[in-house]
Amino acid sequence: MARLVRPPGPRVRSLGGSFSAFRADPLGFLTRCTEDYGDLCYFRAGHQHMYFLNSPALVQEALVTKNAAFMKSRILQRAKSLLGEGLLTNEGASHLRQRRLVQPAFHRDRLKRYATDMSALAIRSRARYADGAVVDIDREMMRLTLAIVGRTLFSADVEEDAPTVGEAMNALLEMMPVLMFPLSQYLQYLPIPFMRRFMKAGETLDKTIYRIINERRASGEDTGDLLSTMLASRDTEGDHSGMTDKQVRDETLTLFIAGHETTATALTWAWYLLAEHPEVEAKMHRELDEVLGDREPTFEDVPFLPYTGHVFGETMRLYPPAWAIGRMATMDLEIAGYQIPRKSIVLLSPYTMHRSPKYWPEPDRFLPERWETEDPDRPKFAYYPFGGGPRLCIGERFAWMEGVIILAALARKWRFRRADAAPVQLAPLLTLRAKGGLRLRAEPRY
Ligand code: HEM
Repeated sequence: MARLVRPPGPRVRSLGGSFSAFRADPLGFLTRCTEDYGDLCYFRAGHQHMYFLNSPALVQEALVTKNAAFMKSRILQRAKSLLGEGLLTNEGASHLRQRRLVQPAFHRDRLKRYATDMSALAIRSRARYADGAVVDIDREMMRLTLAIVGRTLFSADVEEDAPTVGEAMNALLEMMPVLMFPLSQYLQYLPIPFMRRFMKAGETLDKTIYRIINERRASGEDTGDLLSTMLASRDTEGDHSGMTDKQVRDETLTLFIAGHETTATALTWAWYLLAEHPEVEAKMHRELDEVLGDREPTFEDVPFLPYTGHVFGETMRLYPPAWAIGRMATMDLEIAGYQIPRKSIVLLSPYTMHRSPKYWPEPDRFLPERWETEDPDRPKFAYYPFGGGPRLCIGERFAWMEGVIILAALARKWRFRRADAAPVQLAPLLTLRAKGGLRLRAEPRY
């Protein structure tokens, strides 16, 4: 049998391979791989074979043309014990059917209603700031996007309804890091108080969600939220059936988890970049003043706030919340002339691609103006903060709208400045966060 030829990459002979270098500084490690080895780099992390794809064409192969040869990587598989068969963790035909059933919840007429909620909650949040007060902007953005997902998902006020949905959802958020722990599937069988508490939180959460589902099914009321749309949805391309309670429960939790931290981290970085670039901030303020005057932002305003949109988009170029996307090969396949054996991990990084000088002039510069004209030479997958192909983020339009509305609603009244001079470091966790959080000082604009 012919010997398997691996693509170029760091060759580390120890048992762990490049695992410790990758774990210590994943962004630095991946950036060095792109510089030293180019479009395709192979490394070993323990017993795991990793293929890191770095060109837009190869990303397209992994996400679009050869998508059927892959499944989500192990980290997400682990989340199945909580998220069940929701869109993030589901695979194959079942994923496609669920995608058809959830999609109507993101149609234009629905987004319009969500925009009203987003604006109202952003206004409520901005009323809490005081002149000169230091704001933990990362926590504030998390709190705001959490409130928005609670309201748009099931018309619940996560901040105010603490004893019901809010409490159960907070318990869920605490559970997520535990689930990402490598041996989490065994942890749940340990009779330790810590684990018992989490299991109980899971039960409370399920009870709450099933109660809401039952109440809605019984009343048949369409409250205009994501849950109502999911309950009413029928698979018109299949057997016209809808979702079972278990499926609605899985999708609800999935949207709750997938729908807030990503947007919150993007917004945190946007405020940071605006604080560091007063000329960009002034231009955004001019747009907001001209388009909105003394009105609050609405769904209809979003297309008329292009520069604010470019600020959000350029932020996600420099700081893509999903800084890496992983897949596991379910069969042997070929990419760029190399054999990739079944069970290998294919790794993609929007972070390294978005900063590649091959596709971005002055790649490290925050320049929202670069989006004002289309660059015909830039390949599609040189920018992919929302992934692509059949697993493209279902909340992409929701997130763009949320980003613009929150930036507009807050910047109508406040500007933010750095509260300390320490350099900000990156923390590539589940999303790309600022290490230790980010403190900004609020200044009233008028
Ligand atoms: C700036 C904000 C956001 C970013 C950067 C983002 C990014 C992504 C990315 C990269 C993926 C694909 C992951 C992969 O291929 O492995 C994804 C999937 C997903 N996202 Fe988002 N997302 C954002 C906001 C949202 C929102 C607001 C929602 C829901 C309200 C949402 C729901 C989902 C779901 C359900 C999936 C799985 C889709 C599927 O596989 O069919 N996301 N997101």
